[in-house]
Amino acid sequence: MNWNNQRSASDLAKQEDINSLGKLPKHVAIIMDGNGRWATEKGMPRIAGHKAGMESVREIVKTSSQIGIKYLTLYAFSIENWKRPATEVTGLMSILEQYLRSEIDELHENGVRLHTIGKLSSLPKMVQKLLKESIERTSDNQGLNLTLALSYSGRWDIVRAVQMIGLDVRRGKISPEDISESLFSSYLQTANLPDADFMIRTSGEMRLSNFLLWEVAYGEIYISNKYWPEFRSDDLYLALQNYMNRERRYGMTSSQIVNQAQNEKHSNYLQKMMNVLKK
Ligand code: IPE
Ligand code: IPE
Ligand code: MG
Repeated sequence: MNWNNQRSASDLAKQEDINSLGKLPKHVAIIMDGNGRWATEKGMPRIAGHKAGMESVREIVKTSSQIGIKYLTLYAFSIENWKRPATEVTGLMSILEQYLRSEIDELHENGVRLHTIGKLSSLPKMVQKLLKESIERTSDNQGLNLTLALSYSGRWDIVRAVQMIGLDVRRGKISPEDISESLFSSYLQTANLPDADFMIRTSGEMRLSNFLLWEVAYGEIYISNKYWPEFRSDDLYLALQNYMNRERRYGMTSSQIVNQAQNEKHSNYLQKMMNVLKK
């Protein structure tokens, strides 16, 4: 099913509105939280919340791809989540397996490229196998880069990177003086992803819960009060609108940022004129 043929007139209008606001965040990262509370409040078992959450995953992935977001990273399971009751963990793993089985054709058809970050060796063998196949199958796709964070934690990744850097120093491949921010980033599991520009967390909680600690250093944060199973396209539009109206200053002053934008516009214009003259 081609997602671009599925856009309703109202979605199309909203998506165009967002695009007209300026530069979309390149990399959106989402902490999908609140499945358990959503279910409990409805008198259902927590696992029903995780199942309902999958519908939100489907919709948000599709919408992100339609809008033209290049990188979407979803926090699906943290290393700390292994501490949950065994029945919940097993249920979550089987929902993940189901998701991969049922969605991969549609993701592939729509140009989505799948990636993962996390300690995958902790996942059930079947899930590991499905992930590997799906990643290989979609590896030439040029559309949305969808990264699933599975058995992931930011500190785990940072410590792992430090260990590998240590090994490369010992082997003489690099020297301690070579260690820079960009070299360090290249040792993280997120090496091929740009920094997270926009981090969304659902369910009103205001914490990072060990997600992309390094990568979100200058990212914008947005908290939605909706539980993840209720977070749908319109909520993503709202979040993106909110992001597009912010000024990212990176430690500078507002007028510096305005000048920078004007200079950029000016040099883009000059470049365009040069290209026209060359023709
Ligand atoms: C997020 O929902 C999904 C995972 C962490 C796997 P929760 O299961 O954390 O739901 P709450 O936060 O308990 O409501
Ligand atoms: C964060 O949610 C992890 C995921 C969404 C996968 P949690 O529900 O595990 O976070 P805490 O424990 O409330 O911080
Ligand atoms: Mg939670």
